[in-house]
Amino acid sequence: MRGRELSAVAGRIAVLSYCFVAGALVWGQGGLKPVPIPRPPMGWSSWNSFSNTVDEQIVMEQARTMAANGMQKAGYSYINIDEGWWLGERDAQGNIVVDPKQWPALAPNEHAGDMSNIVRFIHGLGLKAGIYTDAGTAGCSMYPDLGPKYFHAGSEGHYDQDFLQFAKWGFDYVKVDWCGGDKEKLDPAVQYAEIARAIARAEAITGHHLYFSICEWGKNSPWTWAPNIGGSPADIWRTSGDIVAPIVAGHEHADRKASFAKVLSNFDEGIHPEAEHTGYYNDPDMMVLGMPGLTEEQNRLHMALWAMSGAPLIVGADLTKLTHAELADLTNPAVLSIDQDPTGLQAVKVAEPSPGLEVWSKPLAESGKRAVLLLNRTNSAASIPVHWPDLGLANSLPTVKDAWTGEHLQAAGDGYTATVAPGDGVLLLLSGAELPMTRYLPNKPARKSLAPGSVVPDHRVQFVNVHAREAMSRIQIAYSNPDPKPRFAELQVNGEVITRIAFPFTGRTGAGYVWIQSMLKPGGPANILTFSTDCAPGPVIRSISVQ
Ligand code: GLA
Repeated sequence: MRGRELSAVAGRIAVLSYCFVAGALVWGQGGLKPVPIPRPPMGWSSWNSFSNTVDEQIVMEQARTMAANGMQKAGYSYINIDEGWWLGERDAQGNIVVDPKQWPALAPNEHAGDMSNIVRFIHGLGLKAGIYTDAGTAGCSMYPDLGPKYFHAGSEGHYDQDFLQFAKWGFDYVKVDWCGGDKEKLDPAVQYAEIARAIARAEAITGHHLYFSICEWGKNSPWTWAPNIGGSPADIWRTSGDIVAPIVAGHEHADRKASFAKVLSNFDEGIHPEAEHTGYYNDPDMMVLGMPGLTEEQNRLHMALWAMSGAPLIVGADLTKLTHAELADLTNPAVLSIDQDPTGLQAVKVAEPSPGLEVWSKPLAESGKRAVLLLNRTNSAASIPVHWPDLGLANSLPTVKDAWTGEHLQAAGDGYTATVAPGDGVLLLLSGAELPMTRYLPNKPARKSLAPGSVVPDHRVQFVNVHAREAMSRIQIAYSNPDPKPRFAELQVNGEVITRIAFPFTGRTGAGYVWIQSMLKPGGPANILTFSTDCAPGPVIRSISVQ
C-alpha cells in the first residue's frame, strides 16, 4: 500500500478503536448532578438608542453607568458596540481601518483608531466588550438610519482576518448581521458555519474566547441549523426582525421608539423550545425596556416575557436615562433568576383557557419549581386559571408567590386563578411536587457498529417505547464526557432530526445530566429517540428520563 492509503486505513482504525473505547465504558449508578451550562448573556447594546452614531464617548458613558447603577452587580456584563463603529475602509492588506476621530486614544501610550483602547476601558470596569460585523460584503449600514450610509462594512472575504482582529483587540463577543449576506442571496447556514470555523481559528491563535451571536432575523429558521454549525453551535441566534424600526431618511432626529406590539410579536417568534438547551439560546432581540414608547406595566411585562423565554438580556435603552422603576425591573433578582435558571430551558405555552388568555410555564432547576406567566392579550380584564398537572406538578397545593414582590398568594389544591389586567401579565413562582418521570435505558448500549456497505462507523444510542404525557416533553439526559470541551450529539425523534445537543465536560470519570424539551407523540409508547454522534468523539449517553 502507498503511504497515503496506509495512513487513511490507520485513521479509520483509530476512529473505530476510539468508538469502541467510548462505547465500552460502563458507568456506576446514582449521585448524578446537573452539568453547568452557559446562561443567557446580559448586557447593553448601542443600536436601539444610538443607531450608527455610536462613538467612544457614548460607549464610555454607558459602560460607566452600568458599573455604577447596580446593573453590573445584578449580573449585566456586556457592553456591545453595534453597527456604525466602522465605516467600511480597509488598508492595502485588507485590515479594517478605524476612524481615529470616532475612537481617539484614551491614554498617552495609545493610538487613535485602535479598538483595543475602548476594550481596555470596558475591561477596566470589570465588564466585557462586544463588537459587530456582517456576514456579507456590505453591512446594514448600506441602509439609511440616524447616521449616513456606509458600504463595504461587512466581513465576507475577510472572515479569518476580521475575527482574528476582533480577538486580538480583546473583544469577548461578536454579533454577525445578515444584511450583506441577504442582499447577495448567500446561504446563511453555510456562511455562519464558515464564520464559526474562523472564530475557532481566531480563538486557537489568541487563546481569547469570542461569544458568537447570529443576527439573521429568523428568515431562514436559524433554530434548525444554528445549534449545529461549523462543528459547534452558535451561542445565540436572532429569531425575528428588529424590535425597533429603523429611522427613515428625513426624520433623522426623531426619537427611536418602542412598540409593545413588536415586543409581543418578537416574543412569539422567539419560542422554539426544542432548540433552546444546553447553553444555547433563541434571541428575540435587544430589549426596549426604558426606551420611549412603553408604559410602566409594559416595561415590566417585557422583562417577564424575556425572562420566561430565557432570552439574552441585552438592554437597548440609554442607560443614563433609566428611571428608578425601569432599573428595578431590570435588576429584580427573582425575575433575573428565571431568565438565568441553570436548566437553560424555554417557557412553553401549556394552556389557553380562552383565546388570548395564556398560561406559560418555564421549568426551573429545583425539583417542583416553575415560573408561570398568566398572559392576558385581550382588551378586558380576565381571570386566568393555572392547573398543576398542566405544569407537570401533582395536585398537592404548591406554594405560589408573586415573582416580582415575593408575596405569598393563596392557591387551591388543583390550581391558582389570577385576575389579569388587559394587555398585562402576572408572573408567578411556584414550588410543588413533580409528577413522576420515567427512566429509559438505551435499547442497545453505546457501542460501535458498521452500517452495511459503509466504512464509517455508525455510533448511535437509541431509546424505544418512550412514553410521553404531553406533546412537549421535558427530557433529562444522563451522560458522561471526559473531554474539557463540549461534545455533541444529534437527536432524532421518530426518524426526524430535531436538534443538536451540547454535552459539556462531566469530569474525567464522572457523569451528569442536561435537560432538553422535545415534541413527542403523547399517549401510546410509540416514540423512538436516537442520539447519533457520527463517531466524532461523542458523549456516552447512559439513560434518559421523560416527564
Ligand atoms: C440589523 C440588526 C439590528 C442592528 C442593525 C444595524 O437590522 O437586526 O439589530 O444590528 O442591523 O444596522
